[in-house]
This record gives sequence, C-alpha cells and structure tokens, in this order.
Amino acid sequence: MITINTLRKMKLNCDKIAMLTCYEASFAKISEDAGVDILLVGDSLGMTMLGYSSTLPVSLADMCYHTRAVANGSKHALILADLPFGSYQKSKEQAFEAAVALMQAGAHMVKLEGGAYLAQTTAFLQERGIPVCAHIGLTPQSVNTLGGYRIQGKTDQDAAILLNDAKAHEDAGADLILMECVPASLAKDVTAAISCPSIGIGAGIDCDGQVLVLHDILGIYSGKSARFVHNFMEGAPSIQAALKAYVAAVKSGTFPALKHSF
Ligand code: KIV
Repeated sequence: MITINTLRKMKLNCDKIAMLTCYEASFAKISEDAGVDILLVGDSLGMTMLGYSSTLPVSLADMCYHTRAVANGSKHALILADLPFGSYQKSKEQAFEAAVALMQAGAHMVKLEGGAYLAQTTAFLQERGIPVCAHIGLTPQSVNTLGGYRIQGKTDQDAAILLNDAKAHEDAGADLILMECVPASLAKDVTAAISCPSIGIGAGIDCDGQVLVLHDILGIYSGKSARFVHNFMEGAPSIQAALKAYVAAVKSGTFPALKHSF
C-alpha cells in the first residue's frame, strides 16, 4: 500500500512519484500494474468522462461515483480525490462534510484548489483524519477569475505569493502540494522549501513527482494539446505499454523535458 509515509520516504530518497488521473476500475488496475503510485480521481472527469467544457459543473455525487469505481479496481495505489467546485469554499465545516463523502467512497486523501486563504481548511481536515493535497498555481476551478488557463507565478511578486501559499498549506498539515503551470525555477524553489512532496503538471522536472491526465497521455483528443502534455501512445504497442512508458519516464526523470516546461 502506498501511504503518506511512503510518499515522504520517496521524497527523502529522491524517488520520483508517478501520479495519473483515473476515473474507473479497469484503468485503476492497469495503471497500478504499470507502477502508478497515486491515482487522481480528478474533477477533469467533467471533461474526460462527462463532456463538459470545464470542471465547474462537476458535483460531489459525480466525484463519489468515480472515486468508488476507482477504489473497486485498486489494490495498493494511494487514491486522491478532488473536492469539486463549490463543495469546500464556503466553510471548513462544508469542506469536512464533502471530504468525508469522498473518503467513504474510497479516497485516501482529498485535493482542494487554492492558496493560503484555504490553509485553515487544510488544518481542519487534517486534524480530523483527512490527508490533504493543496493544488496551487493554475487552479482550473478559478478559470473565470484567472481570466483563462494561463501560466501563474511569473512575476517576482506572484512567485512570492505562490511560495507563501505552499508554506501555509504545509504548515497547516498538507501532505502534498500540487503545482500546475508555474515556471520550472519557481517549482524547484517551492519543492526545496517544503518537507512534504510536491507534484507538478507543467511545473518542470524538479518537482518530487509528476501528474498528467490519462486521456492526454493516451492521445485521445485530436488537435493542439497543452505544452506540458506528452502522448505516450505514440510508438507504444498497447495502452498498458503506454502507461508503463509514462511511469518509466517520470521515474527516470526523462519526463518532463525542457520543451514541456515554462
Ligand atoms: O482534475 C485533474 O485532473 C487535476 C490535474 C490537472 C492535476 O486536478
């Protein structure tokens, strides 16, 4: 079983952590067989499973349904489930109730999106037995206030805010910090400044681990993909081989390359 202790040891030993989104039982099994350490039941399921154009319409019931399916197919990976938009921002008590529903559906940790202003919520959950991953940088649930899906932390001032966000969540007891679309040099500084592991998506090679969306690594969508995406199906004889290639690239530090970073 992968636990929060396993993840901390991996950071200490410089063993890279491979995280991948997962929304149902069959992929839970083949992803962990391929060596994925953390199955992220991401609210990206709004796009990949439900056909929405953003994560905003995803409900807590949607998240519980898919978390249960992943838990049914999984034996030893750590299952991380997203708290969906509107299920945790109102109060720490609201967050606790939503997090309990996800844990009862089979999650081992929950993820919330937002900076230092949510650190009290992180502490409230952690003190009540719920491990927390704080997602900072580009937070897709805030796409409307961010003005689009764009790189974060580019100025010195924004970089200082992001570093403060990470430390505030860590001080509050977060077990993982996930950074999305931030300059690689900033993600490196954040990773060095915190003792819990960092996970990056579009955040460069120096994070303690990496995450991508399953449908992106399988090249399911045609058209232009985000800079940080790599299609591991290219040249792979099977889906299982593509998943193994993703894990091997993360573990060996060959993914992400410079061309995937900002
Ligand atoms: O929902 C999701 O897939 C995510 C990843 C983009 C990190 O949060």
